[in-house]
Amino acid sequence: MELKSIEDNAKNYGVPIIRTESHKILAELIKKYNPKHILEIGTAVGYSAITILKNCDGDIITIEHNPKHVKTAKQNLKKERLNNRSKIIEGDCMVVLAKMICKKKYENYFDFIFLDGPKAQYNSMLNMLLILLKSNGIFLADNVLFRGYVLGETNAPTKRYKTIIKRLNDFIENCKNCPEFIEFSLNNTEDGMIFAIKR
Ligand SMILES: C[S@@+](CC[C@H](N)C(=O)[O-])C[C@H]1O[C@@H](n2cnc3c(N)ncnc32)[C@H](O)[C@@H]1O
Repeated sequence: MELKSIEDNAKNYGVPIIRTESHKILAELIKKYNPKHILEIGTAVGYSAITILKNCDGDIITIEHNPKHVKTAKQNLKKERLNNRSKIIEGDCMVVLAKMICKKKYENYFDFIFLDGPKAQYNSMLNMLLILLKSNGIFLADNVLFRGYVLGETNAPTKRYKTIIKRLNDFIENCKNCPEFIEFSLNNTEDGMIFAIKR
């Protein structure tokens, strides 16, 4: 199955996937750094995971809590013959990450972390992700500007949005001031992406 048809299917079924410009940035970074072990939060139907695997030789662990998405992602990865380089963990990312940390195996293990899961929990996940990321590992977080509301002039339309925006603002500030990052940049094309490198 072509990546294009996975993208079209996701759009037809209203599954949120990485946007065009961010997709390009992700593919370029993966090509450039050729990471060995990748962690992704938020699999959806596997579109970004397939992009990652097609642009490097490494393997990926990707976390998704929606069982329907997990099923479709598994089918898509299998059709692409990438199932041997991918492991989808079904569950809530906060719980899964906490379990991974308990298994000491994953401490300082990942060369690349792509954060694309629940925006309201980015900030709560940061410390756990830093434990799992290797020294010199790449950290990429998508949608940090949340439809332009974060750092924008537009007022949030609902209370739920206000909470997400406040938490994403905290997340951006924490990443910017994080002593464990030696490099930090916020790309504000499309929905905003944070790129950082761990010390
Ligand atoms: C933006 S989508 C991911 C898109 C995917 N990375 C791509 O570009 O192909 C975010 C995903 O995170 C999942 N998600 C939301 N909350 C979650 C949670 N607490 N634990 C695990 N996954 C979660 C959603 O079900 C959704 O599939």
